[in-house]
Amino acid sequence: MRKRALFAALSLGVAIATALAACGSGPAPDGAGDGTITMGFSQVGAESGWRTANTKSVQEAASAAGVDLKFSDANGKQENQISALRSFIQQGVDVLAFSPVVRTGWDAVLLEAKNAGIPVILTDRAVDTTVPDAYVSFLGADFVDEGRRAGQWVVEEYAGQAEPVNIVILEGTTGADPAIDRNTGFEEAISASPNLNVIASQTGDFTRSGGKQVMEAFLKAHPDIDLVFAQNDDMGLGAVEAIQAAGKTPGQDIKIVAVDATSDGMRALADGKFNFLVECNPLLGPQLMDLAEKVLAGEPVPARVVVPDETFTTQQAIEALPNRQY
Ligand code: AHR
Repeated sequence: MRKRALFAALSLGVAIATALAACGSGPAPDGAGDGTITMGFSQVGAESGWRTANTKSVQEAASAAGVDLKFSDANGKQENQISALRSFIQQGVDVLAFSPVVRTGWDAVLLEAKNAGIPVILTDRAVDTTVPDAYVSFLGADFVDEGRRAGQWVVEEYAGQAEPVNIVILEGTTGADPAIDRNTGFEEAISASPNLNVIASQTGDFTRSGGKQVMEAFLKAHPDIDLVFAQNDDMGLGAVEAIQAAGKTPGQDIKIVAVDATSDGMRALADGKFNFLVECNPLLGPQLMDLAEKVLAGEPVPARVVVPDETFTTQQAIEALPNRQY
């Protein structure tokens, strides 16, 4: 309770010295009166290998930092996330963190957190909100850049080729920050190449089964697909299954570029089933705990923390695989 009181006092612009004098004793270095930070964390679900690694990272980092983590899995539903966040507010957690399923529709619950004086840290995905100062920091990758790097690879791969290249896109969850931004970056990168044609684009919901199902439909409707842009590894791996079932060779008859670079995706790249990967690092736990500790200690934190990503060719995947952490 004292941790949140300190955060609220600081966010109201009350001088820390005055607050401490009123308390009669100084706070612990981490801002805690009782020494333990309680964090309410609402996770999207378990839709992908990336998500599983992200959940593990948050849970392990909380335990290493001595943070009391209240974890809730929303099973891909925004209403479940809102209920979880409300429940955490009710329980009086010190800090809230969540990875929003979709970008919009959070104003009411963010206002409730703000009114309760509980700082919010966005992890992985951003929100659009009209609530001023709705969150203290957003920790996550640059999804537009990820899409752009995937698109740049496609441009280079087909540079100098005049014949049309038929591209299909397996999109992430409709309305989700990474789905919107990866589309934006990819379209931007290929826009100056008139022979690169996106002939179909549909959501596979970031799941392997969704990617497989949509790819099966694409293959039936379009016998001449040259390349798949899968907005995550799992959908790309689903596409591999669909392409093989259609009697074609993934990576050769139909090229695949995907985002995430989880171990499964890297193995597909090393085996020649994928052709290029853009990384999205899920190991956000330690940075999240660090941000929470700083916020509750009244220290300034950046409004945006961008997690850097790499890209991988087949050879680079072969070299990186033995030490891949996720
Ligand atoms: O928000 C990150 C995305 O969500 C990952 O790329 C995807 O695998 C996950 O489901």
